Amino acid sequence: AEQQVVADLREKCATPPSLLRDVAAAMADEMCAGLEMEGGSRVKMLLSYVDKLPTGREEGLFYGLDLGGTNFRVLKVQLGGNDKHVISRESREVAIPPHLMSGSSSELFGFIASELAKFVADEEKGTSLSNGKTRELGFTFSFPVRQRSVASGTLVKWTKAFSIEDAVGKDVVAELQTAMQKQGLDMHVAALINDAVGTLAGARYYDEDVVAGVIFGTGTNAAYVEKANAIPKWEGELPSSGQMVINMEWGNFYSCHLPVTEYDQALDNESLNPGEQIYEKLTSGMYLGEIVRRVLLKLSLQSAIFGEIDHTKLKTHFHLRTPHISAMHHDDTPDLKTVEEKLKEILEIAGTSLETRKMVVEICDIVARRVARLAAAGLAGILKKLGRDGSVDKRRSVIAIDGGLFEHYSKFSKCLETTLNELLGEESSKFIVVKHADDGSGIGAALIAASQSQYRNVE
Ligand code: BG6
Ligand code: GLC
Repeated sequence: AEQQVVADLREKCATPPSLLRDVAAAMADEMCAGLEMEGGSRVKMLLSYVDKLPTGREEGLFYGLDLGGTNFRVLKVQLGGNDKHVISRESREVAIPPHLMSGSSSELFGFIASELAKFVADEEKGTSLSNGKTRELGFTFSFPVRQRSVASGTLVKWTKAFSIEDAVGKDVVAELQTAMQKQGLDMHVAALINDAVGTLAGARYYDEDVVAGVIFGTGTNAAYVEKANAIPKWEGELPSSGQMVINMEWGNFYSCHLPVTEYDQALDNESLNPGEQIYEKLTSGMYLGEIVRRVLLKLSLQSAIFGEIDHTKLKTHFHLRTPHISAMHHDDTPDLKTVEEKLKEILEIAGTSLETRKMVVEICDIVARRVARLAAAGLAGILKKLGRDGSVDKRRSVIAIDGGLFEHYSKFSKCLETTLNELLGEESSKFIVVKHADDGSGIGAALIAASQSQYRNVE
């Protein structure tokens, strides 16, 4: 019976190149449809109002807030003003108490403003900020926001593990600004950006050939630079740069070509946002462990493979997390000691045979490979849309990627790169570069805040 479950999974998760090409083509089509008109596609293609990317001459002191990944972060960045020089960067990570992810808007923003106020107080201890300037902040808010300007926008919906009803439709900058005032914090939000946009901006600062910023972390998303005249839905005045960064919100992509299994369907039905974010549920860190847990549960209920066990842990949603899967998948001890430990510690499954542990690794491999290959198809879709997939333009094109899944799960990142080559052809490795953008969005938010600063020297 156990062999059958695994064989079935392998078959349903298969991602042959032909399927991936269809997914890439569908992604490129949805991009066009989303640019065409509001509501034209599930892929929202949101305008970021970032129409200039960093020049390397940004200058000054900026604070940053980064909300929406595994941790919430506060930052302070001092930009040197010449030749891509970051003078200093301080940051602090704070875990978000889980109850705040489903409480009220004022509780969440109250919490982040108070953590920011503490950070500012610690950073400025002993110094006097007597230059009469208001502090400026770049706010990275990693959820879909319909922006009205580079420093304002309303929340379209929550994604990942957040669900705070009364914040939907509200201007998140106004919410933050009110919470900061309550803390007596004199700070002005100069820019509101998505983490994918921040990653693009941060990476572009160092490398002019960066065309897209992508996140594979708790959630997944991509941002890229579009020609302003290729955005029919845009009603405002076209920027002089002729460009606009688009926050794709590709997590909500769907195509009939996606290999959705019974496990994905059940996960989706029982999720906080059924029917939404299907591509994200197939390709990001928040869900990978959960999919594997569902497969292991079925295996245990339909076979005697784990023996007589207590299923409490194995039945607990999100109990098995992607870092556990990564640890088991990368286990290179001859008798799979790490797998044995994780099964015991996390799921209370003890006394497994080596055969069983190999089967668990195989399940991790099947699921993680599907994640990486579908992720590569998404990237191929963007390159195709930009004509940079090798068919027309062979200029160097860099895709900057951030997020825990890409950074810490090396079998994922390797498979992503190999698959991209497989899809675009061997030669593509000469001009398509995938690279890790370390802390892209922290620096990125500071850079965009700098370009919008009320104190900047107008060039
Ligand atoms: C970080 C970015 O490095 O990656 C964040 O600076 C982003 O803005 C995050 O949200 C995503 O990572 P994860 O894995 O924590 O979701
Ligand atoms: C989710 C959010 C998106 C964010 C991504 C990565 O998909 O909707 O805004 O960029 O996660 O954090």
